[in-house]
Amino acid sequence: MSSNKTVLISGGAGYIGSHTAVELINAGYNVVIIDNLSNSEKEAVDGVRKITGKDVVFEIVDTCDKTALRQIFKSYDFDSVIHFAAYKAVGESMAEPLMYYQNNLVSFMNIVEMMKEFNRPNILFSSSATVYGEAENLPVTEQTPRQPATSPYGNTKQIAEDILHDCCRAYEGVHGIALRYFNPIGAHPSALIGELPRGVPNNLVPFITQTAAGIRKELSVFGNDYDTPDGTCLRDYIDVVDLAKAHVAAVNRMTDCKMDAKYEIFNIGTGNPISVLELLTTFESVNNLKLPYKIAARRSGDVPAVWADTSRANEVLGWKAERPLRETLQAAWAWEKNVRNIK
Ligand code: UFG
Repeated sequence: MSSNKTVLISGGAGYIGSHTAVELINAGYNVVIIDNLSNSEKEAVDGVRKITGKDVVFEIVDTCDKTALRQIFKSYDFDSVIHFAAYKAVGESMAEPLMYYQNNLVSFMNIVEMMKEFNRPNILFSSSATVYGEAENLPVTEQTPRQPATSPYGNTKQIAEDILHDCCRAYEGVHGIALRYFNPIGAHPSALIGELPRGVPNNLVPFITQTAAGIRKELSVFGNDYDTPDGTCLRDYIDVVDLAKAHVAAVNRMTDCKMDAKYEIFNIGTGNPISVLELLTTFESVNNLKLPYKIAARRSGDVPAVWADTSRANEVLGWKAERPLRETLQAAWAWEKNVRNIK
Protein backbone atom coordinates (compact mmCIF):
# COMPACT_ATOMS: atom_id res chain seq x y z
CA MET A 1 0.00 0.00 0.00
CA SER A 2 1.31 3.43 -0.91
CA SER A 3 0.76 5.99 1.81
CA ASN A 4 1.39 9.72 1.89
CA LYS A 5 0.96 9.98 -1.84
CA THR A 6 -1.49 12.46 -3.24
CA VAL A 7 -4.29 11.78 -5.71
CA LEU A 8 -6.04 14.50 -7.72
CA ILE A 9 -9.77 13.81 -7.96
CA SER A 10 -11.69 15.67 -10.65
CA GLY A 11 -15.40 15.61 -9.90
CA GLY A 12 -14.55 14.76 -6.31
CA ALA A 13 -17.65 16.52 -4.94
CA GLY A 14 -19.86 14.16 -6.94
CA TYR A 15 -21.49 10.92 -5.93
CA ILE A 16 -18.75 8.40 -6.73
CA GLY A 17 -15.95 10.96 -6.37
CA SER A 18 -16.80 11.84 -2.77
CA HIS A 19 -17.01 8.18 -1.70
CA THR A 20 -13.71 7.48 -3.43
CA ALA A 21 -12.07 10.43 -1.65
CA VAL A 22 -13.09 8.89 1.69
CA GLU A 23 -11.69 5.45 0.84
CA LEU A 24 -8.43 6.90 -0.51
CA ILE A 25 -7.94 8.89 2.68
CA ASN A 26 -8.77 5.80 4.76
CA ALA A 27 -6.08 3.97 2.80
CA GLY A 28 -3.47 6.64 3.66
CA TYR A 29 -3.54 8.84 0.56
CA ASN A 30 -3.89 12.60 0.53
CA VAL A 31 -6.44 13.93 -1.91
CA VAL A 32 -6.91 17.17 -3.82
CA ILE A 33 -10.50 17.57 -4.96
CA ILE A 34 -11.45 19.74 -7.90
CA ASP A 35 -15.04 20.18 -9.05
CA ASN A 36 -17.01 22.88 -10.85
CA LEU A 37 -20.13 22.09 -8.76
CA SER A 38 -22.24 21.96 -11.93
CA ASN A 39 -23.99 18.82 -10.70
CA SER A 40 -22.70 18.47 -7.15
CA GLU A 41 -22.69 20.28 -3.81
CA LYS A 42 -19.74 21.56 -1.81
CA GLU A 43 -21.40 19.97 1.25
CA ALA A 44 -20.21 16.61 -0.12
CA VAL A 45 -16.63 17.76 0.53
CA ASP A 46 -17.66 18.75 4.06
CA GLY A 47 -19.04 15.22 4.40
CA VAL A 48 -15.69 13.78 3.32
CA ARG A 49 -13.97 15.97 5.92
CA LYS A 50 -16.36 14.91 8.67
CA ILE A 51 -16.10 11.20 7.91
CA THR A 52 -12.31 11.18 7.67
CA GLY A 53 -11.42 13.94 10.13
CA LYS A 54 -9.03 15.33 7.52
CA ASP A 55 -8.93 18.85 6.12
CA VAL A 56 -9.28 17.94 2.46
CA VAL A 57 -8.03 20.41 -0.17
CA PHE A 58 -10.90 21.52 -2.40
CA GLU A 59 -10.79 23.95 -5.32
CA ILE A 60 -13.66 24.98 -7.56
CA VAL A 61 -12.22 24.33 -11.00
CA ASP A 62 -13.79 23.40 -14.32
CA THR A 63 -11.59 20.80 -15.99
CA CYS A 64 -12.59 22.26 -19.37
CA ASP A 65 -10.68 25.41 -18.34
CA LYS A 66 -7.13 24.48 -19.27
CA THR A 67 -5.57 27.53 -17.66
CA ALA A 68 -7.20 26.82 -14.31
CA LEU A 69 -6.31 23.16 -14.60
CA ARG A 70 -2.68 23.98 -15.36
CA GLN A 71 -2.60 26.03 -12.18
CA ILE A 72 -3.73 22.97 -10.20
CA PHE A 73 -0.98 20.87 -11.74
CA LYS A 74 1.53 23.63 -10.89
CA SER A 75 0.31 23.97 -7.32
CA TYR A 76 0.00 20.35 -6.15
CA ASP A 77 2.31 17.40 -6.24
CA PHE A 78 0.50 14.17 -7.16
CA ASP A 79 1.29 11.06 -9.20
CA SER A 80 -2.24 9.90 -9.90
CA VAL A 81 -5.41 11.47 -11.19
CA ILE A 82 -8.91 10.00 -10.99
CA HIS A 83 -11.11 11.64 -13.57
CA PHE A 84 -14.78 11.57 -12.61
CA ALA A 85 -15.84 14.99 -13.85
CA ALA A 86 -18.44 14.42 -16.57
CA TYR A 87 -22.09 14.78 -17.47
CA LYS A 88 -23.93 11.49 -17.03
CA ALA A 89 -27.57 11.66 -18.07
CA VAL A 90 -28.34 9.47 -21.09
CA GLY A 91 -31.57 11.28 -22.06
CA GLU A 92 -30.04 14.74 -21.71
CA SER A 93 -27.17 13.65 -23.94
CA MET A 94 -29.67 12.73 -26.68
CA ALA A 95 -31.15 16.25 -26.48
CA GLU A 96 -27.82 18.09 -26.05
CA PRO A 97 -25.12 16.02 -27.78
CA LEU A 98 -22.69 18.90 -28.29
CA MET A 99 -22.83 19.77 -24.61
CA TYR A 100 -21.82 16.18 -23.81
CA TYR A 101 -19.02 15.89 -26.37
CA GLN A 102 -17.71 19.33 -25.43
CA ASN A 103 -17.72 18.79 -21.70
CA ASN A 104 -16.84 15.11 -21.35
CA LEU A 105 -14.15 14.95 -24.01
CA VAL A 106 -12.50 18.37 -23.64
CA SER A 107 -12.17 17.93 -19.88
CA PHE A 108 -10.69 14.46 -20.33
CA MET A 109 -8.21 15.57 -23.00
CA ASN A 110 -7.19 18.55 -20.87
CA ILE A 111 -6.40 16.21 -17.98
CA VAL A 112 -4.29 13.89 -20.12
CA GLU A 113 -2.50 16.84 -21.73
CA MET A 114 -1.60 18.27 -18.32
CA MET A 115 -0.41 14.88 -17.11
CA LYS A 116 1.92 14.71 -20.08
CA GLU A 117 3.10 18.31 -19.64
CA PHE A 118 3.80 17.85 -15.91
CA ASN A 119 5.04 14.24 -16.03
CA ARG A 120 2.28 12.85 -13.86
CA PRO A 121 2.12 9.15 -14.71
CA ASN A 122 -1.17 7.58 -13.62
CA ILE A 123 -4.73 8.17 -14.69
CA LEU A 124 -7.84 6.30 -13.69
CA PHE A 125 -10.85 6.88 -15.90
CA SER A 126 -14.53 6.38 -14.95
CA SER A 127 -15.95 4.27 -17.71
CA SER A 128 -19.27 2.47 -17.80
CA ALA A 129 -20.96 -0.83 -18.58
CA THR A 130 -22.81 1.20 -21.18
CA VAL A 131 -19.90 0.48 -23.56
CA TYR A 132 -21.11 -3.15 -23.84
CA GLY A 133 -24.58 -2.17 -25.10
CA GLU A 134 -26.77 -5.23 -25.70
CA ALA A 135 -24.11 -7.92 -25.38
CA GLU A 136 -24.56 -11.30 -27.05
CA ASN A 137 -23.18 -13.27 -24.10
CA LEU A 138 -23.71 -12.63 -20.41
CA PRO A 139 -22.06 -11.95 -18.07
CA VAL A 140 -19.76 -9.58 -19.94
CA THR A 141 -15.99 -9.84 -19.57
CA GLU A 142 -13.54 -7.11 -20.46
CA GLN A 143 -13.01 -8.96 -23.77
CA THR A 144 -16.69 -8.81 -24.69
CA PRO A 145 -16.81 -6.62 -27.79
CA ARG A 146 -18.15 -3.13 -27.26
CA GLN A 147 -21.33 -2.37 -29.19
CA PRO A 148 -21.92 0.89 -31.05
CA ALA A 149 -23.00 3.48 -28.50
CA THR A 150 -26.71 4.22 -28.38
CA SER A 151 -26.35 7.69 -26.83
CA PRO A 152 -23.87 10.58 -27.02
CA TYR A 153 -23.19 9.95 -23.31
CA GLY A 154 -22.22 6.34 -24.04
CA ASN A 155 -20.21 7.49 -27.01
CA THR A 156 -18.17 9.87 -24.84
CA LYS A 157 -17.23 6.89 -22.63
CA GLN A 158 -16.14 4.83 -25.63
CA ILE A 159 -14.21 7.69 -27.23
CA ALA A 160 -12.49 8.58 -23.95
CA GLU A 161 -11.45 4.94 -23.49
CA ASP A 162 -9.97 5.02 -27.01
CA ILE A 163 -8.20 8.33 -26.36
CA LEU A 164 -6.70 6.90 -23.17
CA HIS A 165 -5.61 3.73 -24.94
CA ASP A 166 -3.91 5.75 -27.71
CA CYS A 167 -2.22 8.13 -25.25
CA CYS A 168 -0.91 5.29 -23.07
CA ARG A 169 0.53 3.66 -26.18
CA ALA A 170 2.06 6.86 -27.53
CA TYR A 171 3.38 8.65 -24.44
CA GLU A 172 6.02 6.90 -22.42
CA GLY A 173 5.08 8.50 -19.11
CA VAL A 174 1.33 7.92 -19.23
CA HIS A 175 -0.34 4.83 -17.68
CA GLY A 176 -4.08 4.36 -17.52
CA ILE A 177 -6.79 2.20 -16.03
CA ALA A 178 -10.43 2.34 -17.12
CA LEU A 179 -12.95 1.02 -14.62
CA ARG A 180 -16.22 0.01 -16.25
CA TYR A 181 -18.83 0.58 -13.58
CA PHE A 182 -22.07 -1.35 -13.61
CA ASN A 183 -24.94 0.29 -11.66
CA PRO A 184 -23.57 2.22 -8.65
CA ILE A 185 -26.08 2.57 -5.83
CA GLY A 186 -26.23 3.21 -2.08
CA ALA A 187 -24.47 5.66 0.21
CA HIS A 188 -21.82 5.88 2.88
CA PRO A 189 -22.87 4.11 6.14
CA SER A 190 -22.50 7.44 7.99
CA ALA A 191 -25.32 8.88 5.80
CA LEU A 192 -23.13 12.00 5.44
CA ILE A 193 -22.55 11.54 1.69
CA GLY A 194 -24.70 9.91 -0.99
CA GLU A 195 -26.39 10.45 -4.32
CA LEU A 196 -28.23 13.74 -4.72
CA PRO A 197 -29.56 14.12 -8.26
CA ARG A 198 -30.94 17.50 -9.29
CA GLY A 199 -34.52 17.43 -10.59
CA VAL A 200 -36.35 14.20 -11.37
CA PRO A 201 -33.98 11.25 -10.94
CA ASN A 202 -33.25 9.14 -14.02
CA ASN A 203 -31.83 6.24 -12.09
CA LEU A 204 -33.80 3.60 -10.25
CA VAL A 205 -32.57 3.84 -6.66
CA PRO A 206 -32.78 7.64 -6.25
CA PHE A 207 -36.27 7.44 -7.74
CA ILE A 208 -37.19 4.76 -5.21
CA THR A 209 -35.79 6.69 -2.23
CA GLN A 210 -37.49 9.91 -3.36
CA THR A 211 -40.78 8.02 -3.72
CA ALA A 212 -40.32 6.62 -0.22
CA ALA A 213 -39.69 10.18 0.99
CA GLY A 214 -42.95 11.32 -0.63
CA ILE A 215 -41.22 13.59 -3.17
CA ARG A 216 -42.41 11.42 -6.11
CA LYS A 217 -45.95 10.09 -6.30
CA GLU A 218 -45.11 6.62 -7.56
CA LEU A 219 -42.36 4.63 -9.20
CA SER A 220 -42.81 3.56 -12.81
CA VAL A 221 -41.28 0.18 -13.54
CA PHE A 222 -40.20 0.49 -17.15
CA GLY A 223 -41.40 -2.71 -18.81
CA ASN A 224 -42.34 -6.14 -17.44
CA ASP A 225 -42.37 -7.97 -20.76
CA TYR A 226 -38.62 -8.53 -21.19
CA ASP A 227 -37.26 -12.02 -21.68
CA THR A 228 -36.06 -12.24 -18.07
CA PRO A 229 -37.31 -14.33 -15.11
CA ASP A 230 -39.87 -11.75 -13.90
CA GLY A 231 -40.10 -9.73 -17.11
CA THR A 232 -38.22 -6.69 -15.73
CA CYS A 233 -34.66 -5.69 -16.69
CA LEU A 234 -31.65 -7.24 -15.02
CA ARG A 235 -28.75 -5.10 -13.81
CA ASP A 236 -25.66 -5.49 -11.67
CA TYR A 237 -26.06 -3.06 -8.75
CA ILE A 238 -22.73 -2.24 -7.14
CA ASP A 239 -22.49 -0.59 -3.75
CA VAL A 240 -20.83 2.83 -4.02
CA VAL A 241 -18.44 2.14 -1.10
CA ASP A 242 -17.35 -1.13 -2.70
CA LEU A 243 -16.93 0.77 -5.97
CA ALA A 244 -14.86 3.43 -4.20
CA LYS A 245 -12.59 0.68 -2.83
CA ALA A 246 -12.04 -0.61 -6.37
CA HIS A 247 -10.56 2.81 -7.16
CA VAL A 248 -8.16 2.47 -4.23
CA ALA A 249 -7.08 -0.96 -5.50
CA ALA A 250 -6.53 0.47 -8.99
CA VAL A 251 -4.57 3.48 -7.68
CA ASN A 252 -2.44 1.14 -5.54
CA ARG A 253 -1.72 -0.93 -8.64
CA MET A 254 -0.61 2.13 -10.59
CA THR A 255 1.44 3.77 -7.86
CA ASP A 256 3.16 0.49 -6.97
CA CYS A 257 4.03 0.03 -10.69
CA LYS A 258 2.30 -3.36 -10.79
CA MET A 259 0.53 -2.89 -14.11
CA ASP A 260 1.01 -5.61 -16.75
CA ALA A 261 0.31 -3.21 -19.58
CA LYS A 262 0.24 0.57 -19.94
CA TYR A 263 -3.54 0.54 -20.33
CA GLU A 264 -5.82 -1.82 -18.44
CA ILE A 265 -9.58 -2.28 -18.15
CA PHE A 266 -11.60 -3.77 -15.29
CA ASN A 267 -15.28 -4.50 -14.87
CA ILE A 268 -16.51 -3.29 -11.50
CA GLY A 269 -19.73 -4.98 -10.44
CA THR A 270 -20.99 -7.74 -8.18
CA GLY A 271 -21.53 -10.41 -10.82
CA ASN A 272 -25.16 -10.84 -9.61
CA PRO A 273 -28.05 -9.92 -11.90
CA ILE A 274 -30.96 -8.34 -10.01
CA SER A 275 -34.32 -7.45 -11.54
CA VAL A 276 -36.09 -4.12 -11.07
CA LEU A 277 -38.88 -5.82 -9.10
CA GLU A 278 -36.39 -7.73 -6.95
CA LEU A 279 -34.61 -4.49 -6.13
CA LEU A 280 -37.88 -2.80 -5.29
CA THR A 281 -39.15 -5.60 -3.02
CA THR A 282 -35.77 -5.87 -1.29
CA PHE A 283 -35.83 -2.11 -0.64
CA GLU A 284 -39.33 -2.44 0.83
CA SER A 285 -38.52 -5.38 3.07
CA VAL A 286 -35.17 -4.15 4.47
CA ASN A 287 -36.58 -0.71 5.19
CA ASN A 288 -39.96 -1.95 6.32
CA LEU A 289 -42.09 0.18 4.02
CA LYS A 290 -44.33 -0.11 0.97
CA LEU A 291 -43.85 1.87 -2.21
CA PRO A 292 -46.54 2.88 -4.69
CA TYR A 293 -45.54 1.66 -8.12
CA LYS A 294 -47.01 0.90 -11.53
CA ILE A 295 -45.85 -1.04 -14.54
CA ALA A 296 -45.13 1.40 -17.36
CA ALA A 297 -43.93 1.12 -20.95
CA ARG A 298 -40.34 0.15 -21.68
CA ARG A 299 -37.88 3.05 -21.56
CA SER A 300 -36.24 3.61 -24.90
CA GLY A 301 -32.56 2.65 -24.95
CA ASP A 302 -32.74 0.17 -22.03
CA VAL A 303 -31.01 -3.15 -22.62
CA PRO A 304 -32.90 -6.16 -21.20
CA ALA A 305 -29.98 -7.45 -19.14
CA VAL A 306 -26.36 -6.74 -18.35
CA TRP A 307 -24.14 -7.94 -15.56
CA ALA A 308 -20.43 -8.31 -15.00
CA ASP A 309 -17.95 -11.11 -14.98
CA THR A 310 -15.71 -9.68 -12.27
CA SER A 311 -13.00 -12.36 -12.29
CA ARG A 312 -10.37 -10.00 -13.62
CA ALA A 313 -10.93 -7.39 -10.90
CA ASN A 314 -11.08 -10.16 -8.27
CA GLU A 315 -7.84 -11.80 -9.38
CA VAL A 316 -5.74 -8.93 -10.66
CA LEU A 317 -6.88 -6.03 -8.46
CA GLY A 318 -7.56 -8.29 -5.47
CA TRP A 319 -10.89 -6.50 -5.14
CA LYS A 320 -14.34 -7.97 -4.61
CA ALA A 321 -17.76 -6.46 -3.94
CA GLU A 322 -18.58 -7.18 -0.31
CA ARG A 323 -21.55 -5.24 0.93
CA PRO A 324 -24.84 -7.18 0.83
CA LEU A 325 -27.62 -5.60 -1.25
CA ARG A 326 -29.85 -5.22 1.82
CA GLU A 327 -27.23 -3.05 3.59
CA THR A 328 -26.74 -1.00 0.44
CA LEU A 329 -30.48 -0.33 0.21
CA GLN A 330 -30.69 0.51 3.92
CA ALA A 331 -27.85 3.00 3.45
CA ALA A 332 -29.58 4.54 0.41
CA TRP A 333 -32.70 5.14 2.50
CA ALA A 334 -30.75 6.39 5.54
CA TRP A 335 -29.05 8.96 3.30
CA GLU A 336 -32.33 10.11 1.71
CA LYS A 337 -33.87 10.48 5.18
CA ASN A 338 -30.89 12.47 6.37
CA VAL A 339 -31.04 14.83 3.39
CA ARG A 340 -34.81 15.36 3.75
CA ASN A 341 -34.78 15.55 7.57
CA ILE A 342 -37.07 12.54 7.90
CA LYS A 343 -36.94 10.82 11.29
N1 UFG B 1 -35.94 1.91 -14.02
C1 UFG B 1 -37.30 1.89 -13.77
N2 UFG B 1 -37.88 3.03 -13.31
C2 UFG B 1 -37.18 4.17 -13.08
C3 UFG B 1 -35.79 4.18 -13.34
C4 UFG B 1 -35.21 3.03 -13.81
O1 UFG B 1 -37.96 0.86 -13.96
O2 UFG B 1 -37.78 5.17 -12.68
C5 UFG B 1 -35.29 0.68 -14.50
C6 UFG B 1 -34.66 0.84 -15.86
O3 UFG B 1 -35.60 0.59 -16.87
C7 UFG B 1 -33.55 -0.21 -15.79
C8 UFG B 1 -33.16 -0.24 -14.33
O4 UFG B 1 -34.24 0.37 -13.62
O5 UFG B 1 -34.07 -1.45 -16.12
C9 UFG B 1 -31.92 0.55 -14.01
O6 UFG B 1 -32.05 1.85 -14.55
P1 UFG B 1 -31.05 3.04 -14.18
O7 UFG B 1 -31.50 4.25 -14.92
O8 UFG B 1 -30.88 3.13 -12.72
O9 UFG B 1 -29.68 2.49 -14.74
P2 UFG B 1 -29.29 2.10 -16.24
O10 UFG B 1 -28.93 0.66 -16.21
O11 UFG B 1 -30.23 2.57 -17.25
O12 UFG B 1 -28.08 3.08 -16.37
C10 UFG B 1 -26.81 2.67 -16.25
C11 UFG B 1 -25.92 3.83 -15.79
C12 UFG B 1 -25.75 4.84 -16.87
C13 UFG B 1 -25.46 4.18 -18.19
C14 UFG B 1 -26.54 3.19 -18.51
C15 UFG B 1 -26.37 2.58 -19.87
O13 UFG B 1 -26.43 4.44 -14.64
O14 UFG B 1 -24.67 5.67 -16.55
O15 UFG B 1 -26.50 2.20 -17.52
O16 UFG B 1 -27.03 1.38 -20.01
F1 UFG B 1 -25.38 5.02 -19.20
